[in-house]
Order: sequence, then C-alpha cells, then structure tokens
Amino acid sequence: MDMTIGLKTIADASFDSVMITSAGRKNEIIYVNKAFEKLTGYKAKDVLGKDPKFLQGPATDPATIRQLVKDLKAAKTFEGRTINYRADGSPFIMHWRVLPVKSGRGASAKVENYVAIQRVISA
Ligand SMILES: Cc1cc2nc3c(=O)[nH]c(=O)nc-3n(C[C@H](O)[C@H](O)[C@H](O)COP(=O)(O)O)c2cc1C
Repeated sequence: MDMTIGLKTIADASFDSVMITSAGRKNEIIYVNKAFEKLTGYKAKDVLGKDPKFLQGPATDPATIRQLVKDLKAAKTFEGRTINYRADGSPFIMHWRVLPVKSGRGASAKVENYVAIQRVISA
C-alpha cells in the first residue's frame, strides 16, 4: 500500500492531537492538527515555529520531561503523562507519545522530525 498519499488527510482528521516538530538543535512545531487546537485552545498559526514546552507550567513533572529528553537523544519512542496547560491556563493530564522519524536510508538515515500523538486523560 502506498502510504505517502493521504497521510496529511489522516492527521488532519484524527481524533487525537497530532504534532510534528523539527529535530536537531531546535524542536520547532511545523504541523498541528485540528484536534490539537481543540485540546489546547491554541490556534495552529500561533504555535508554528515554537517549541512545545509552552504547554508546561508549575505542576509539570520535571522527571517526565527528563525521560522524554533522554529517549529522544537515544532516538527512542517516548510515552508518558504529565500536567499541561491550555491557552486559558486550565490544567489537564496530557498522555503523549513522541516518535523520532528518520529520513534517508541505511547509515545516512538521520532523525529529521518528531511526531507526537497527544490526548487528555480525564480524571
Ligand atoms: C514532538 C514533541 C512534542 C512534545 N510535546 C510535549 C507535550 O505535549 N507536553 C510537554 O509538556 N512537553 C512536550 N514536549 C517537550 C518540550 O517541547 C521540550 O522538549 C522539553 O521540555 C525539554 O526541553 P527543556 O529542557 O528546554 O524544557 C514535546 C517535545 C517534542 C519534541
């Protein structure tokens, strides 16, 4: 099956929040879907180019974030939960997974992007 066609269509329509960032020195948001806007209250145009850490606040667990940084450095998939904050300041439990995505083949393959799948855990 050719998966190159329609992936954006799928991400746009997903019930879960989908976020794509650049990898490397900076993790700049290059894509968020409608579900991200609904979940966080931020508009796509206001978050493009930013690091996702604007979702964090006083109750965000630093140990979870350290684990994320460690996993991404090792080019591993991260999965975890922490407190994040919507645009209106209200907190929620974020359950999310971040996947390193390589481009190129074989020895020249490099992690060029991260894809995050995010959802609210309701209490
Ligand atoms: C693709 C991607 C998605 C991320 N999503 C979240 C998120 O939903 N919530 C969160 O608290 N941090 C998220 N982060 C983590 C922060 O953006 C940042 O990488 C982390 O806080 C470590 O950077 P710092 O040490 O400068 O804080 C995400 C990171 C990446 C690369």
